[in-house]
Amino acid sequence: MSRGLRKGLTAYGDEGFSLFLRKAFIKAMGYSDDALDRPIVGIANTYSDYNPCHGNVPALIEAAKRGVMHAGGMPMVFPTISIHESFAHPTSMYLRNLMAMDTEEMIRAQPMDAVLLIGGCDKTLPAQMMAAASADLPTVLLPTGPMVVGHHKGEVLGACTDCRRLWAAYRAGQMDQAEIETVSGRLAPSVGTCMVMGTASTMACLTEAMGLSLPMSAAAPAVHAERVRLAEASGRRAAEMAIAGGPLPSDLITPASLRNAMVVMQALGGSTNGLVHLAAVARHAGLKVDLDQFDRIGRETPVLVDLKPSGHHYMEHFHHAGGLPRLMRELTDLLDLAAPTVAGGTLADVVAGAEEVPGQDVIRPRGRPLKAQGAMAVLRGNLSPRGAVIKQSAASPALMKHTGRAVVFTSLADMAKRIDDPDLDVNADDVLVLRQAGPRGAPGMPEAGYLPIPKKLARTGVKDMVRISDARMSGTAFGTIVLHIAPESAAGGPLALVRDGDLIELDVAARRLELKVDAAELARRAAETDHAVPRPARGYARLYHDHVMQADDGCDFDFLGAAP
Ligand code: FES
Repeated sequence: MSRGLRKGLTAYGDEGFSLFLRKAFIKAMGYSDDALDRPIVGIANTYSDYNPCHGNVPALIEAAKRGVMHAGGMPMVFPTISIHESFAHPTSMYLRNLMAMDTEEMIRAQPMDAVLLIGGCDKTLPAQMMAAASADLPTVLLPTGPMVVGHHKGEVLGACTDCRRLWAAYRAGQMDQAEIETVSGRLAPSVGTCMVMGTASTMACLTEAMGLSLPMSAAAPAVHAERVRLAEASGRRAAEMAIAGGPLPSDLITPASLRNAMVVMQALGGSTNGLVHLAAVARHAGLKVDLDQFDRIGRETPVLVDLKPSGHHYMEHFHHAGGLPRLMRELTDLLDLAAPTVAGGTLADVVAGAEEVPGQDVIRPRGRPLKAQGAMAVLRGNLSPRGAVIKQSAASPALMKHTGRAVVFTSLADMAKRIDDPDLDVNADDVLVLRQAGPRGAPGMPEAGYLPIPKKLARTGVKDMVRISDARMSGTAFGTIVLHIAPESAAGGPLALVRDGDLIELDVAARRLELKVDAAELARRAAETDHAVPRPARGYARLYHDHVMQADDGCDFDFLGAAP
C-alpha cells in the first residue's frame, strides 16, 4: 500500500506524472524531500472566528505539530468546517452531517497516514467521530477542552446551565436589564467548550471512554498548559500510529466500546444529545445503538459525577478530581476493560493509571452516588413508538409520574407567538407539547425541547412542568422534559395527533409515555392530518430533507451508514 505523499494520487492517467506534479506544487511551501518522505499526519483545523469554543485551536495545532515531528512524522494542517452552537442557522445539528462528510472526504482525498482531529463544540466531535469511523484511517481525537468557570456576585457561573437559569430569572422579573447584560460578559470567561456536563463535555468524555483520545483529554481546561501538552502528546501518538498503521477506528469503535460509552454517559449525568450522536457514530461503523440496552444500562449505572446540570461542580473540578480515568475506576465491573485505546494499551491500563485525589467530592464512590440510577431513561408508548428520552437526573422528582392536560404548540413559531400570551389556557399541572421540531420538521431538530415556562406561570414561581417534543435539548438544560420522540410529527409520528386538552401520562419508573386517547379516535385524526413539510428546491437543504433519519438512527443521512 502506498504511504505518505504517494497516497491517493490525483487521477491524470499517469501516476509518475501525478506524483511529480504533487511534489512540484507542495515544494512551493518550502518543504524538503526529507520532510516529504516522512509519514504524514493530517491535522484538521477547525479554528473559526465564529467559534470561541475552538479559540485555542491554533496553539493546540502548534503543539501537535511539535509532537508529530518528535516522532518522525510530517504534520500537514488542513481546514474543515467549524460549527458553533450560537452561530449556525437554523441549527448546528442541521450542519453536523455536512461536517462529517467534509471531514471524511478531506481525510480520503488528501495524502495522510494518520489524522489528528481537533474539535470541541457540541457537533464537532460527533462529526469527527462519524468521519473517523467511515474513513478508517488511524485517528486521534483531541477535544479543545472546557472553559474555566465564571463568577457573578460571589456565585460561580457555568455556560450554559446558568445562562438558562439566569435568563429564566430575568423573564420572571427577578433580574433587570442592566444585570442580565453584565452577566452576559461573565458566563463564558475563556475560550473552550461549555464547562458543565453539556453535550460538548459529554462527547469529549465519550471519545476518551471509547479509546479515541488520550487519557485525561476530556476534561483538562482549554486554557491550561496541560491541554497544550495533551496536544503535543496526541500529535506524537498520531505519528506513531501513522508509522505502525494502527490502531484503526474500526479496532476501537466496537460493540464493547459503544457499551462502555453508554455506561459512562449514564454515570456522567451526560447530555441527551450524546445518545443521538453515539447512534450516528455507530451507524458509520456498521453498528447500532440499542435504546433498550441503553435503558437497561441506566438502571444498573448510578450517576457518580457531581456536575451541573445534574449536580453542583464544573468540568475543571472534574479534571482536578482525576477526570474520566478516575470515574472509570468506579465503574470497572460495568466496563469492558479489554477495549483498546489510541494510547496503545487497553482501558484497563487507563484505569490503572487513574489518580487518587484525597478529599475530592466530584466523583462519588459507588456506595454514595449522586443518583441511584443513570442519567437517562428511554420511554415507550403510543406517543413514542420508536422511543423518546428523558434526562431523569435533571428532572423534578414530583413530576416523574404525572398525568396532565396537553397544551399544544404546532410549531416553534406558534410557541414563540403564544407561550407568553396572558390569555393562554395553561396551568402548572398541564403538559406542554411542541411538535414539528424534529430532524426534518424544524428542520435540524433544534434544542427547543426546553420549552420556556409560560411567563404568567413563571411569575407565580412555577419552575418546572412536563414538556414533551420531537426536539432536542441542550445538555446544559434541566427540567422534566421528554425529548427525541420518534418518529417525529413531520414524519407521521403520533405527536402530530395530540390535541389541546388530551390527557398525557408520563411514568418514568414504568418507562411509559401515553396519549390517553383511544386507537379509533387516533386513526380518525391520522386520516385528516398532514404534517409533511415542503421539500426544499435545491442544495444542502434538499439533500438534508430527503435523507435525514430519525433520532433513534442518530439523525444520520441514510446513505452515510457503513455498507453492509
Ligand atoms: Fe460550544 Fe457550548 S457553545 S460547547
